[in-house]
Amino acid sequence: MEGLELSWAGTPRVLDPRRGGILAFTASGEGEGERVPERRTIGEAQLAVIEGLLRRASGLSLSPGMRRALPAAVNDAAALMGVSPQALVQRVTAGDDAAVTALVERTVVGETFFWRHPEQIDALRELAFSTEGPLRIWSAGCASGEEPYSIAIALLEAGRAGRGDQIVASDLSTNALARAQQASYGAWALRRMPEELQLRYFAGLPPSARLVPDIRGLVTLVRHNLATEAPPGLEFDVVLCRNVLIYFDAALAAEVLHKLLAATRPGGLVVLGPVELPLAAQVDVEWLDACGASLLRRKAAFPSMGRGR
Ligand SMILES: C[S@@+](CC[C@H](N)C(=O)[O-])C[C@H]1O[C@@H](n2cnc3c(N)ncnc32)[C@H](O)[C@@H]1O
Repeated sequence: MEGLELSWAGTPRVLDPRRGGILAFTASGEGEGERVPERRTIGEAQLAVIEGLLRRASGLSLSPGMRRALPAAVNDAAALMGVSPQALVQRVTAGDDAAVTALVERTVVGETFFWRHPEQIDALRELAFSTEGPLRIWSAGCASGEEPYSIAIALLEAGRAGRGDQIVASDLSTNALARAQQASYGAWALRRMPEELQLRYFAGLPPSARLVPDIRGLVTLVRHNLATEAPPGLEFDVVLCRNVLIYFDAALAAEVLHKLLAATRPGGLVVLGPVELPLAAQVDVEWLDACGASLLRRKAAFPSMGRGR
């Protein structure tokens, strides 16, 4: 196995897993002349404890790749807080909220882009055409905003300006929400967005193409933890939660899916990422196929979620 590298305040620290099978953090004493190098270790056992704490705080079940990246996440979180990786680990282990939050921020996968799963956006645009009253939509795990803003654009494209539609967009990551608030995007985020829509709904060009205020005004951003909190509203017409449940273990994914359906009005739709649809195989929902997308329709009999849960 290769040695891993941790850096603290810009100074690289070599990790040598061959030393007793642990990840060893070495402070070189760089710039401090004769000081004897300090040796710290983050053992596998500590990493396992951190993994458990992360799961409790965010629901995240680390994939092998995310687990391999955990020492680097510890490193980054420590730099963010201005402490050593070892001190960060101690704080996380002691349940220090700020340290846990910093680590969660460095662990979540925020990959997203405009017009992701376009067949689902087409299906929602069709629904929007044929609905009279205002639509209430929840984008759960919205990352940096590309998903809810894509839906907002689809609503305007369906001629719904001034209809009173509302989109609540939530995420656990405050960094992601801050980027959504800025609503300024680069070429990577826009790579799948049809060009005519880019021209209509953005001012300026990547790397700082700014979303027009009409679209931003349709979306309310809130911090929300799907694993531990009640939904930020009830009776939504549509709930999107795409490419989020894949990061949870099966039991939590099932619990969160139940929460999403309970927050949807009878007859309303839940939209998952295509790879997440098998999670709904055993759930009592209707399957709706539209524009090449498979959507889940809540049955009237589905148990509602009591307020405050
Ligand atoms: C891969 S992104 C998906 C973004 C968007 N839904 C899409 O499909 O393009 C996953 C998002 O889920 C968020 N997330 C992870 N765990 C969460 C939790 N427990 N509660 C709320 N959001 C969470 C992450 O912060 C990240 O922004």
